[in-house]
Amino acid sequence: MGFLSRKKPKPAPVELQEDHPIVDELQQMEEAVPIRDETAGAAGPVSDSALPPTGGSPPSSPPTADTSESEPAEEVVEEPALNAQEPDEEEGDARMKAVDLIAPTRLDFLAEKEADEEEPVKTAEVIAFANQKGGVAKTTTTLNLAVAFAESGYRVLCIDLDPQGNLTMSQGIDPDKVEKSLYDVLVNDIPISEIIVKREIDVAVASIDLAGAEIAMSTKIGRERSLEKALKEVAGDYDFVCIDTPPSLGLLTINALTAANKVIVPVQCEYLSMRGLVQLQNTLRMIQENLNPDVRIEGILPTMLDSRTIHAKEAVEILEENFGDLVFQSRIKKAIKFAEAPVKGASVLKYDSDSSAANYYRELAKEVLSHGSA
Ligand SMILES: Nc1ncnc2c1ncn2[C@@H]1O[C@H](COP(=O)(O)OP(=O)(O)OP(=O)(O)O)[C@@H](O)[C@H]1O
Ligand SMILES: [Mg+2]
Repeated sequence: MGFLSRKKPKPAPVELQEDHPIVDELQQMEEAVPIRDETAGAAGPVSDSALPPTGGSPPSSPPTADTSESEPAEEVVEEPALNAQEPDEEEGDARMKAVDLIAPTRLDFLAEKEADEEEPVKTAEVIAFANQKGGVAKTTTTLNLAVAFAESGYRVLCIDLDPQGNLTMSQGIDPDKVEKSLYDVLVNDIPISEIIVKREIDVAVASIDLAGAEIAMSTKIGRERSLEKALKEVAGDYDFVCIDTPPSLGLLTINALTAANKVIVPVQCEYLSMRGLVQLQNTLRMIQENLNPDVRIEGILPTMLDSRTIHAKEAVEILEENFGDLVFQSRIKKAIKFAEAPVKGASVLKYDSDSSAANYYRELAKEVLSHGSA
């Protein structure tokens, strides 16, 4: 019966249609598993309707008339697995290939990233001013050196990473009145550009709540890199970024050292002030090993030098014996102007531009620039 129907495409077996039970059975099977094969469809009752949208014939689909029965049966069994790929090749790139779904090879985001990385031709030199000892002129040096750079035509951003907000105050900004500060940048990830205030130089301001930043950041993933990340937004806008740090080696200072290319270490010329340098060096080594391999000490700066005292001279000698070339040639001598200027909300270079106090920092700027910065 089936054999005859294949040989002759239109046998019209009328006498079986009405009452033979196999006809009903066949129809039920075909409705349950619709047949897609169009060549075979000419002979079947559901050939013109209800074609499934996706490819793949049911394994039991009938073979074509001229071929032997065994060959097509094998093809039909194997093809469904390959069929998922073949139509994609014909359709071009419009559809993802099965291979891509299993192991995605979309690398456009990498290409974008590479383009981003190539673009900023010149980024700021980031200098952290650090010493865990208090009152050694970190803030004074950060601000006045920054202003000296600006006098020489460089674009400078100062970052006040100290909850005391002394640098912010030294530019005439009240840290108690700022709405957003570095706290929001480090903890809430707001753009750093939102907290930059323009004064003699641009200042990313501190507020008292920065004191809580270390605890608030402590559970954050990548907490040591928060400042580094934030600085990327503005790195192309400045030649120098000068970071004032608090008198500790906590998370705020670690953020500064991680973001920095260079560290300047102000040291008061007293024996006790120099003892902490070893601890600072150890911290820096840890940062180099784990977070920022490129950071290095740009120089150790003797500050508040009272050249009249033998003790101060001896202290500088000890510094040079122990740290050699790392000690700057420049010396920042004691001068009352340094205490007076912040009261006026100005750097010493603005407060008394012709003073020798102002010139100490101009000399230091020359020395840093001669080291190859910017
Ligand atoms: N060369 C100097 N001669 C005299 N006074 C100075 C000199 N440099 C800084 N000072 C004064 O010493 C005090 C401490 O300086 P500064 O605030 O810069 O130190 P600091 O290291 O930032 O302190 P802290 O660790 O508290 O942040 C300030 O009152 C400042 O005006
Ligand atoms: Mg300070």
